[in-house]
Amino acid sequence: MTRIKTRLFPSGIAEGSAFCNRTAERELLKQYIDNIQHTVIMAPRRYGKSSLITQVIRDNQLIYAWVDFLSVTTQEEIENKIRAAAKELVLAMSPEIKKIQVQTVDKIKSMSPELNLSAMGQSLKLQLSSDDTTPIDQILTELDKYAQKMEKTAVLVFDEFQQISEIEENKSVEALIRHAVERSKAVTYLFSGSNRHLLQEMFSQKDRPLYRLCSVMPLERIHPDEYLKFISRAASSRWGEALPKNLILKILDLTECHSFYVNALCNELWLKEKTPKNEGAIEQIWKTYMIKNKSIIVSEIVALPLNQKKIIKALSNSPEAEPYGIQFSTQTKIPSASIRRAIESLLLKDIIFQDANDCYRVLDPAVSYYFRCLH
Ligand SMILES: Nc1ncnc2c1ncn2[C@@H]1O[C@H](COP(=O)(O)OP(=O)(O)OP(=O)(O)O)[C@@H](O)[C@H]1O
Ligand SMILES: [Mg+2]
Repeated sequence: MTRIKTRLFPSGIAEGSAFCNRTAERELLKQYIDNIQHTVIMAPRRYGKSSLITQVIRDNQLIYAWVDFLSVTTQEEIENKIRAAAKELVLAMSPEIKKIQVQTVDKIKSMSPELNLSAMGQSLKLQLSSDDTTPIDQILTELDKYAQKMEKTAVLVFDEFQQISEIEENKSVEALIRHAVERSKAVTYLFSGSNRHLLQEMFSQKDRPLYRLCSVMPLERIHPDEYLKFISRAASSRWGEALPKNLILKILDLTECHSFYVNALCNELWLKEKTPKNEGAIEQIWKTYMIKNKSIIVSEIVALPLNQKKIIKALSNSPEAEPYGIQFSTQTKIPSASIRRAIESLLLKDIIFQDANDCYRVLDPAVSYYFRCLH
């Protein structure tokens, strides 16, 4: 039998032995879930939102269903996804029903099984069939009642949730979701998504139905000390010998502790039979990775207006505490008013950010490396 190996540095969800630290965040999220405190996890793209949720679910063996809204384009698709998730949760909370359903499907493959759970001594009246037209707030409310009846708690993850705001009828869907979520006593809702600013608007603007519905959990980058320990262990398990600290620091310096890029670079390094010889060898592999992936890395940047590109270039070379000052304007040859507009737009798109010292930096370490060293 072939053993499925867990990749230590995946490009997708990190879990189990691939998951580094985040102890405090795991604990906090667990507390929120225990309190049925609905939460929106906010972070720039590829910081580890989905991995964190997955790991907490796994750590605590929670009953859950995961809805990914990335591909939805209509209200009907949203509703169908929510119905499917509700059905999944009901089945997950009722192992004996799952068995019956599997048998039913086996017997009459072409028919969609309809389970009237009230017939099974439960209060739930959900018609768990594919042509169900029950409104989603009712479905979610019934789901919660069912969980209460079964004395179980569950988690419903709404990932890429910002996508809902892109469709026309979004306010009514948001209102239906609010109606159910604010009444929920046994199902905790976790919202997350890759467009931080659209999510922020949904949850923090007064005129939006989901206003102030959730606790907000911001996610920062993983601390270098944690990565030092994690990468050191990973090196020992790969090569049977430690990787010198200065080489690990080189990895963290190039990737700026951005989880996606730590994994991308380590994945390349860990494919080699031997440990990298020196810092130069690590940088060479990073450069090769950058060149191979250049079109993806700069795809968002090429379409930007010239002033925004100039600012990205300047901040790539040197992060700036006072980009609104005369000096930065002289250096970039952009008038102050235009700088303000460009910076606001870049912040909104998560292309630049303000670090813990309020210094403005390029968010993506591959983009800044490209402008600094390969441009
Ligand atoms: N705690 C962690 N330890 C190690 N690697 C991690 C951790 N969290 C995330 N990663 C890695 O970072 C990258 C992004 O992770 P993930 O997909 O969870 O982020 P995300 O914020 O959900 O991304 P997106 O915004 O694209 O949805 C992946 O390569 C993942 O393996
Ligand atoms: Mg994600």
